[in-house]
Amino acid sequence: MCGIVGFTGNNKAAPFLLEGLKKLEYRGYDSAGIAVLSGDKIKTEKTVGRIKSLMEKTDNGKTVDGNIGIGHTRWATHGAPTTENAHPHLSGNLKFAVVHNGIIENYSALRQKLIDEGVAFNSQTDTEVVPHLLQKYYNGNITETVSKVMGLLEGSFALGIVCSDYPDTLIAAKRFSPLIIGVGEKSNIIASDVTAIAAVTKDIIYLEDDEIALLTPSEVKVLDTNGKTLNKEITTISWDVSAAEKGGFKHYMMKEIFEQPKAIKQALSGRIKNGEVYFENFSLTKEKLKNINRIVIVACGSAYHAGIVGKYVIEEMTRIPCEIDLASEFRYRKPIIDEKVLTVLISQSGETADTLAALKEAKSLGSHIVSIVNVVGSSIAKASDDVLYTWAGPEIAVATTKGYSTQVAVLYLFSAFIAKALNTLDDKTITDFLNDVKELPEKIEEILKEKDAIKELAKHSVNDSSLFFIGRNIDYAVSLEASLKLKEISYIHSESYAAGELKHGTISLIEEGRTVIALACCETLKDKLLSNIKEVAARGAFVITCANEGNTDFIKESNEMIYVPKVNELLIASTEVIPFQIYSYYVAYYKGCDIDKPRNLAKSVTVE
Ligand code: AGP
Repeated sequence: MCGIVGFTGNNKAAPFLLEGLKKLEYRGYDSAGIAVLSGDKIKTEKTVGRIKSLMEKTDNGKTVDGNIGIGHTRWATHGAPTTENAHPHLSGNLKFAVVHNGIIENYSALRQKLIDEGVAFNSQTDTEVVPHLLQKYYNGNITETVSKVMGLLEGSFALGIVCSDYPDTLIAAKRFSPLIIGVGEKSNIIASDVTAIAAVTKDIIYLEDDEIALLTPSEVKVLDTNGKTLNKEITTISWDVSAAEKGGFKHYMMKEIFEQPKAIKQALSGRIKNGEVYFENFSLTKEKLKNINRIVIVACGSAYHAGIVGKYVIEEMTRIPCEIDLASEFRYRKPIIDEKVLTVLISQSGETADTLAALKEAKSLGSHIVSIVNVVGSSIAKASDDVLYTWAGPEIAVATTKGYSTQVAVLYLFSAFIAKALNTLDDKTITDFLNDVKELPEKIEEILKEKDAIKELAKHSVNDSSLFFIGRNIDYAVSLEASLKLKEISYIHSESYAAGELKHGTISLIEEGRTVIALACCETLKDKLLSNIKEVAARGAFVITCANEGNTDFIKESNEMIYVPKVNELLIASTEVIPFQIYSYYVAYYKGCDIDKPRNLAKSVTVE
């Protein structure tokens, strides 16, 4: 996700801004920039790529005059990584410069209204509406102006602002995106997180939603949107920088597991309106969809597992046959593809070689290409006819968590989009489904509260030599992902098996003490799964069953139970996967494995 820094003090701002941005590089970014106010002029320096080039261009900031400024590292969501799209963004009269972290969900409408009023935009970003709105509503009082603009914005934002009428005042405001204030002796600063300021001060003020901060070199004032001054507590942090980069967690993986509610909210943001799904710049019209007689989903690893979930949901909601294939197999099996086939590629990195090659193969055969990708402007995104970004923010841990769960969330939206376009479901069913999707982040928050119980349960598998994950329908799809999570970070062999398939051979491996984890949230098939659990329990298996809260059907046959909040049965992948991300994490943790960088693995497999 994007990074913000801001400075006002008795010395040059640019050197601090650049140093602060370097400390935020771990968050992942594809462009960067600073804006510094010197006299009544705002000077900006922006670049695609690394901060290093800004430092080289400005002699580490020494050549940029001015003691107040803002800086930004951008993780592209709306608009490719270009200099024009890099922050800070300026108002037309060059009086305001703004940096932003978050997603302004109603930016299209705001942008169009401003364009109709004659405003010229220089970028494709959602952010650029903010400086233009500040100019439009500026009445000489910066607090009133910022408050007015905040009232117009929907979605999430952390804002750093400089205004040439306020030569020593740094302005900050936020809603749903983090922003902290660093209280110094001769300077005051803002940042997205403590890593950017820990070198200067550990005395911080946490800005809360819908608060506005006015910082001068000697004073920090925090106001509510009515201009009332608020008393804010100064907290002295003890974190070291490494812990701060992981948000206080020991590993990026656990940080990203806990980021999933927010990441899913971002994946959904601005895409569900009035009980319908809206995709920006999406060329797959109803007419084109009517000509589709088959959907083929192609991916690798966890993205493939997300695709299997998608297959169940798409077929249930649209009744269009949906195939799923491993990219490394698809490209060599002479796939039967033509213009009546819609090919969906799923990839967190957007750079997986097998998936990109499969895309090219399907495209060459006349298929319309939709990709579900996290990295804006990646090779797979650029080669697609349509892209549905997951907006999960940078994922650092090799083992994907929020990458997978946001892919699944976008697949729910895609299923509803097709069902609406083809009228395969009535409006109420679609609206109810989308309302259930919108509740997923809070359901996941509930599961995350059980972290310690799952941590305790994970001790059971530390000495397992091999274990099984079984399930039926979407439970089976999730068991594939749960098994991969465990294997790739704990190095313990595990196997996912369709529960009904066990008796056709593999059940011969079930012996006394063999751990079998049963995923049992698909209640339509609970009796069938209960039989399969009895089969393995009768042969001495140690059974851990994951079921919906309130379901007591499995207690008798299970050694341990994990419960998740009950949700629409089509959405169980989003709840059920969480306990097993945590379970796998702790098994690996107890074993002392390198959780964020497992042996033999790369975050993006850009070779065959
Ligand atoms: C999952 O935890 C792994 N990191 C791996 O299976 C990954 O999902 C796969 O390599 C696909 O990567 P992509 O989503 O970037 O294409």
